[in-house]
Amino acid sequence: MGLFEFIGIVVVLYYLISIILWIVLDSDIELWIKERWGKPIDSLRGKVVWITGASSGIGKQLAIELARNHVKLCISARTVDRLQAVKEECLKQSKLLQPNDILVLKMDMLDIDQHQRYFDTVVTHFGGLDILVNNAGRSQRASFEEIDLKVDRELFELDVFSIVNLTRIYVKHSKGRGHVACTSSSVGLISVPNSATYTAAKHAIHGYYETLKLDHPSMDVTLFCPGPTHTEFLQNAFTGKHGQVYNRTVQPTDRRMTSERCAVLMATALANKCQINFVGPFPVPALMYISCYYPNLRKLVLMILGKSGLAKIRDTNVPQN
Ligand SMILES: NC(=O)c1ccc[n+]([C@@H]2O[C@H](COP(=O)([O-])OP(=O)(O)OC[C@H]3O[C@@H](n4cnc5c(N)ncnc54)[C@H](OP(=O)(O)O)[C@@H]3O)[C@@H](O)[C@H]2O)c1
Repeated sequence: MGLFEFIGIVVVLYYLISIILWIVLDSDIELWIKERWGKPIDSLRGKVVWITGASSGIGKQLAIELARNHVKLCISARTVDRLQAVKEECLKQSKLLQPNDILVLKMDMLDIDQHQRYFDTVVTHFGGLDILVNNAGRSQRASFEEIDLKVDRELFELDVFSIVNLTRIYVKHSKGRGHVACTSSSVGLISVPNSATYTAAKHAIHGYYETLKLDHPSMDVTLFCPGPTHTEFLQNAFTGKHGQVYNRTVQPTDRRMTSERCAVLMATALANKCQINFVGPFPVPALMYISCYYPNLRKLVLMILGKSGLAKIRDTNVPQN
């Protein structure tokens, strides 16, 4: 076999294997490799991790997964009774953690003037903070032209500015050497219909966090991008109208990743200090690879799927506004 034939076969095999992996995996290939051969989640044992928005959904499951691996936690959100229930579950899952190892913090992320005080409470309690996970956030369903500017501002206040502010406090404290993570979304990398502000907010987070990594190369920065996941987030999602919530429930039969599986993958990304990962059921990984790396193919795929195809991948049976 000649050199060119050999190179040709290698290239064809590379693409063939890649396409098979995009179809069968529920994450990007890097995370799949890390889950099997990278650092296990229990390499985080004894570390201190603060998860915002830990009272439900992905944040709650991440707390439980990390507690199972004996990670000390600060869990924050606005609803204390739900946080207390998460703490009890965490203690049940860990044989080593003591009640003092899990701090429940009632915190509204929008209370930006109080962020420094919240931060000091956490650092004083544990004597330090190894990883800050900015997970709290709200989604949106509304058509572009129907969104009040007030909603744009409110959503950015929560999904962008509160995160940026808390992250800045942490970066100053850790002198640019810690580990900060954010639950972004697949919509941080690709655009989807019916969620203009939310899509823009997650894109903005990528801009901030990728610049943070450039400003502080010693800082570990993890952007974790889930696709559709089973949580309560459609109930509390913004619409286009100020003060309104979307108030729809995700159905058990919807094509979404479980929040438990999402949490395992996110914990793996944290343990391995990954920079950017995407997860989700087929066809999310395939769509993400095509959108991020093959712009011409992306145009074709988006044309074939159309607005309704994309919306269906995102929300299965939930009627679109
Ligand atoms: N589910 C998905 O399909 C999906 C996909 C991609 C990305 N995400 C992202 O994943 C993250 C978590 O969402 P989820 O799906 O797990 O939704 P969720 O179950 O609704 O959880 C949202 C969490 O954020 C907290 N939160 C909301 N507003 C807050 C505020 N003002 N201050 C403090 N905490 C606040 C909520 O707690 P309280 O109400 O008790 O404050 C709750 O713990 C979000 O950033 C979301 O954008 C979700």
